[in-house]
Amino acid sequence: MRSSAAPATPLAQRVRGLEMPWNRVLSSTAGPAGAATALGPWHPQEFTAECVETIPEAGGMMVFVFRRMDGAPLAFRSGQYINIDFPIDGPNAEPASRSYSISSAPTEPWTFSITIKCDEKGRVSPWAHENIRPGTTLDMLGPVGAFHLADYDRRARFLLLAAGAGITPLMSMIRTVHALPGQADVVLLYHGSAPDSFAFSEELDFLAKADFRIKVIYCLGDRECGEEWTGRTGRLSQELLEELVPDANGRQVFACGPEGYLNSATELLRSVGVDDTSVFMEFFSGDREIRAEYAEEVAIAGEIAEEIAATTEEYFESQPAALDLYEPEYDADGPIEAVGAPTEAVDAEAVVPVEDEVEIEVVGVTDENLAEAGPGSASNAGSTGSAGSRTAASATGSSDDDETEVVDPAALPTVGEGEHTMSFVRTGLNVCVGEDETVLQAARKAGVKIPANCQEGMCGSCKIVKLDGDVEMNHLGGIRAREIDAGKFLPCCSTAKTDLVIDA
Ligand code: FES
Repeated sequence: MRSSAAPATPLAQRVRGLEMPWNRVLSSTAGPAGAATALGPWHPQEFTAECVETIPEAGGMMVFVFRRMDGAPLAFRSGQYINIDFPIDGPNAEPASRSYSISSAPTEPWTFSITIKCDEKGRVSPWAHENIRPGTTLDMLGPVGAFHLADYDRRARFLLLAAGAGITPLMSMIRTVHALPGQADVVLLYHGSAPDSFAFSEELDFLAKADFRIKVIYCLGDRECGEEWTGRTGRLSQELLEELVPDANGRQVFACGPEGYLNSATELLRSVGVDDTSVFMEFFSGDREIRAEYAEEVAIAGEIAEEIAATTEEYFESQPAALDLYEPEYDADGPIEAVGAPTEAVDAEAVVPVEDEVEIEVVGVTDENLAEAGPGSASNAGSTGSAGSRTAASATGSSDDDETEVVDPAALPTVGEGEHTMSFVRTGLNVCVGEDETVLQAARKAGVKIPANCQEGMCGSCKIVKLDGDVEMNHLGGIRAREIDAGKFLPCCSTAKTDLVIDA
């Protein structure tokens, strides 16, 4: 007998639960596996990131896509946040520091996104929307936060509750679930204030359609909505939860949104039988106590980052040669400055001007290693040649050459007060400095331009060449021994011990 019934579609076969890809390599007791080291360090770090893309989102939000300037991936767990310094009062003023959740998935760690809702009355978010463009670089600290998916979850049944901008860390979680194999069951209940206020709705619709593990329910609160609205209405309530997620008890609940929303969610989840230990919450508009917790967490992360930075040299030295790209200065001789150098948005039509390299010869400074240093050593910021314990060095080039400028430090104007004189031969200025003032502080006061980020001897962005004299440098891993041998130093963490001649 023949049957006209269509053959049953076989059930999808998946491994049990959800396991993050880094979990096995991190817990491995064998030597560092390639994949583990490729993901980079799993602790909060201070780093500089460059915006590579901005994408307007619904609900007054903007997605800012970043990549780290040192070329390393960002190792984080989905749901965590980053503390960012926004230079809203200019590069020399104290930056405004804010925390934002990462909305991208850690399974794509080479770039990462933060999503910022513009609050017209706010101080930082309007500035971010107006000023952050591809090429903008910002100092960051992270990742931070205990609100994240587990590295391994045998059951992997989640209820995600989002209100407004609270979708941000949950978006990272949904993207992560979709990117990974494994049995998972995700219900997202997403509250918005208007039909067009749901950020990422196109992607969420796609994921809900393409991935049977993901279910998305949009819900307008108790506001008026037109007939075209096909989603749900009503505030978060026991009835709504019981109707939409009858098996809420038994799921891990991750909730993010305004304080009032989360307070009511806490009560409602209890009332439908969800144990407090299964509930994780992230406050987006926290009270003073919550903000204090954030500040504490960020401070601890900063301390960890500092400790790690102190051993940065050893860490990078321990990496296999093939992973040398994580070395902060891996491309110091290439076209990209790896650490902290400002870059600009790409204009495909632009003609890139070639700057004339002016070589500088410093009167009274000689260098027996001149031949070794090779042409242009001063302008190349000590990438060749050796200073070490020398008492003098010189930029190369003949004074007969049009491209060579002869500088006599004694003839330069002098500003400032202090026992030692620093001669900035490119700026054409002598700056007097006291024993306690760092070279960077004195230089900045005098208007000498030296790019700098961390100002703690960690990031290496302020590195310059010392042509003559001695400094005492207390760095935190931002410079390597061979660079010091080549005459470089970090002015942010150095004080003058003698008069100095500096290529800046
Ligand atoms: S500014 Fe970071 S090392 Fe000097």
